Amino acid sequence: MDLKAVFIENFGDSNEEIRVFHAPARANIIGEHTDYNGGYVLPCALTIGTYALIRKRADNIARFASTNINTVVQLPLNEISYDPQHDWANYPKGVVHFIQKDGHQLCGFDVLFSGNISGAGLSSSASLELAMAVALNITFSMGYDMISLIKLAQRAEQFCGVNCGIMDQFAIGMGKKGMAIHLHCDSLQYKYVPLSLDDYKIVIMDTNKKRKLSDSKYNERRAECEQAAKILNVENLSKLTPQDFASHQNKLEGNILMRARHVIHENHRVSQAEDALKAGDISKLGELLIASHVSLRDDYEVSCVELDTIVEQAIKHTCCAGARMTGAGFGGCAIALVKGAALPDFIDSVSHAYTDIIGYTPGMYVQESGDGAREII
Ligand code: GLA
Repeated sequence: MDLKAVFIENFGDSNEEIRVFHAPARANIIGEHTDYNGGYVLPCALTIGTYALIRKRADNIARFASTNINTVVQLPLNEISYDPQHDWANYPKGVVHFIQKDGHQLCGFDVLFSGNISGAGLSSSASLELAMAVALNITFSMGYDMISLIKLAQRAEQFCGVNCGIMDQFAIGMGKKGMAIHLHCDSLQYKYVPLSLDDYKIVIMDTNKKRKLSDSKYNERRAECEQAAKILNVENLSKLTPQDFASHQNKLEGNILMRARHVIHENHRVSQAEDALKAGDISKLGELLIASHVSLRDDYEVSCVELDTIVEQAIKHTCCAGARMTGAGFGGCAIALVKGAALPDFIDSVSHAYTDIIGYTPGMYVQESGDGAREII
């Protein structure tokens, strides 16, 4: 698609320059629901993502259009607030809101988004936020560094009702081709870990089950974790090792016990996964992925029959080292590590088995890791 032509079709021609930006989607290798518990995560940016084309205007109007959804949202910059009718446009609007709250005086602009992220759970909202944030930062020479833009984008997600952690925005802002990011979400200390998967590839398995995070139990899980930390008298659950947990778990019961057990063990699995990656031990990495899925399914209760089915079918295949749901859960995507030579057979057999059980087809995409949000020259 000639995006500049679509931009002009939507907004008309002008002498102002149209600048083009791209923010990727992300897949989380492991470390699920640990970010808002001050723990570790191991995500990577992908090559699919969101383009943002932006052009300054002479007035104070902001116009938001998308090639994915046929609506244009238009409003004066001083009237930007959350509006349920604006749907997807609330994410970039949230970014504008916090930039202005920071004291920056913007002039009007037209922006066209175009996303090729198929599947929920790959953080299309954070991709949209970072595309907007980086586009505004560069177009209006605001001088934010990437970490500040990441924090701003996280607030924009919260503006839309999801009290999310920082993982998605961080992976999308800081992603590097060929690398996973080992991030400590409390201190924001991070390091790149080469995503050396030997002859394995990452397959994104989209259940095609739609969900909206703001409708899901995401905020409820977060509150349950805070409750567990309070009872255990720690600042957050990631302060505890599995050994600490074993000796203190008798203070917890029911759902709160299960949520805490997931977070504390998942956090530990991230370090084990980093070691496995560094050692090139893909079969160990695969085992950790499966353990993560089981814990998300049974203790954290954020999986669903579609995610469980696709993961079960994937790990039945002899050339799959491991698989798990990725992202918040409740639908969306899972990832699998699959030997390159077996990809066609894997995709065919898992797709058929899933369709037979669930009644509709999944999406299957082989994905590489990619670079973070940036201007495309
Ligand atoms: C969503 C949130 C992230 C993180 C994951 C679960 O993607 O945006 O902050 O909490 O869920 O790991």
